[in-house]
Amino acid sequence: MSEQWAYTTKTWDRITEPLKPGAADLAVISGQLLLLAERFDSLNALVLGVTKDYLDLPWPTGSNIRALDNASVMIRNHWSGESGTAVQGDWCQMPLQSESQHIVLLDAGLCLLGWPDEQKQVLEEVARILVPDGMFIVRLLVLPHETESMPAVVQAVRAGEITDLSLLRIRLWMAMQADGIFPVTNRQFWTFLASSFPDLAELAQCCSTDSAYLQEALSKLQAEPVRNFAFAALEDYVHMIDSMDGQFSVKEKFIPEYHLGERCPTLVLRKNAA
Ligand SMILES: C[S@@+](CC[C@H](N)C(=O)[O-])C[C@H]1O[C@@H](n2cnc3c(N)ncnc32)[C@H](O)[C@@H]1O
Repeated sequence: MSEQWAYTTKTWDRITEPLKPGAADLAVISGQLLLLAERFDSLNALVLGVTKDYLDLPWPTGSNIRALDNASVMIRNHWSGESGTAVQGDWCQMPLQSESQHIVLLDAGLCLLGWPDEQKQVLEEVARILVPDGMFIVRLLVLPHETESMPAVVQAVRAGEITDLSLLRIRLWMAMQADGIFPVTNRQFWTFLASSFPDLAELAQCCSTDSAYLQEALSKLQAEPVRNFAFAALEDYVHMIDSMDGQFSVKEKFIPEYHLGERCPTLVLRKNAA
């Protein structure tokens, strides 16, 4: 399990916005850091995953920033925080003390867990480790109000409307779920693309990538463990948070203006006192 990202790690630098946080998303977090610094003398911060863009946020002096990721290969290759600040572990069972963190951040990773139980378990764990008044800022990938089909996505690629692989991933993953595949897997994603684009050069050209990269992704497919994606609507997440006995208050729902931004909202949640 922990090495399941071994191939992904080699291609990680090709992952672009909106599968990574954009400037507007980071600005939301910066604003919350200012507010937290007024309430707490120094911050214990936990990054779920190894999103290194977070390291460049305007952290208050004395902040202690750590990462929690279950893949040692991702920690080794992608966490550029100080040595020893990344912990290997599962978000569903965090190896951290209750009420020990002032802020927890997660970028576009909840959909990698099962919906709804595992994703709710992560929210429960975050509520457990946050101090009262601590913040959980999570960028979600959510289903659009109007779904589209898998063939419609292929048509959009050919029409030049999906210009890179990150945009294609988000649109096709969600179209696959809308067409009844649940959870969507990395293998199904690549297998469908290969059958829809027998000439990989065509896909590469439409999505500003190169055929060799696509070819390699396809050839690694069977060796790679299956990775699942499970999406829900923003309303489903808000409903889930509301069902958690008042553990969190939703302080902000930020919808960015970049392309597909409506599918990438950030929720700013405050942990309530018991
Ligand atoms: C945070 S997510 C999404 C990436 C993010 N958008 C970014 O820009 O870095 C990817 C990370 O989540 C980690 N991960 C996935 N499921 C996990 C789990 N249940 N527990 C701990 N880490 C997990 C993976 O190992 C991977 O490094």
